[in-house]
Amino acid sequence: MEVNKLYAMDCLALMKQMPEDFVDLTVTSPPYDDLRNYNGYKFDFENIAKELFRVTKKGGVVVWVVGDRRNGDVSLTTFKQTLFFKGVGFNVHDIMIYKKKNTPFMRKNAYTNCFEFMVILSKGKPRTFNPLMTKTVRSGFEMLPFNKRPDGINKKTLGKLNEEKVKVNIWEYAVGLGGTTSDKIAFQHPAVFPEKLAEDHILSWTNRGDIVFDPMCGSGTTCKMALLNGRKFIGCDISKEYIEIARKRIGIKNRLTSLIES
Ligand SMILES: C[S@@+](CC[C@H](N)C(=O)[O-])C[C@H]1O[C@@H](n2cnc3c(N)ncnc32)[C@H](O)[C@@H]1O
Repeated sequence: MEVNKLYAMDCLALMKQMPEDFVDLTVTSPPYDDLRNYNGYKFDFENIAKELFRVTKKGGVVVWVVGDRRNGDVSLTTFKQTLFFKGVGFNVHDIMIYKKKNTPFMRKNAYTNCFEFMVILSKGKPRTFNPLMTKTVRSGFEMLPFNKRPDGINKKTLGKLNEEKVKVNIWEYAVGLGGTTSDKIAFQHPAVFPEKLAEDHILSWTNRGDIVFDPMCGSGTTCKMALLNGRKFIGCDISKEYIEIARKRIGIKNRLTSLIES
């Protein structure tokens, strides 16, 4: 199977051509419920889930980004799919939240929905975890009142507080032009996820040279970020038009070789 390549085809057919235990990380967002219209697709979730398990390396991870239809009776698709993934052998390593900073879609009788799920599935225990860090609120040095003398006088001592801690599992991103991406062409696709979201997962669950797969890559966000971070990518979308957007966005012809070699 050739890597650093975009495939315009059904991802199920593509995965059938992949060897077992091949992919280090999948970051993908499938068509969920009937929330968007794509250029016509066939989405066979159950067989896709089984094939994803087969092609994922032992210790590899799948990040499944999904939202539920909320029209007065939440679809629970995320939970149904997560249970199915568990049934085919995946470990549900975490359920994370992708919070959108700007949310234009107000609702009349419910609070404005501002998140999607990021289900973290692993084949066995994840082999790689490079935790992303964040600054602590009280970082640096501070006078700490922990040295109380026998006479009751509180002698303050200068202590060092941790400057960084591991990020929490709710990740927040601005969406739209300049947030999701600055590539105008990407918005010819109706449901692009933020570049930073893809990058944060790629950095967390893989190392340089690893294979990153997006079976439903749309405008190519995951592939672009894999490439920019020195990983190999395989992108697939059933729509030729979307693959053309991804191809232009990644700038495949001129940038590819130098980025991979660096
Ligand atoms: C939510 S979008 C992905 C968007 C992508 N994450 C991005 O940032 O542009 C889902 C994509 O799945 C594609 N798709 C649907 N069924 C497919 C299938 N069976 N094989 C491959 N792609 C499929 C659709 O064409 C659509 O582009």
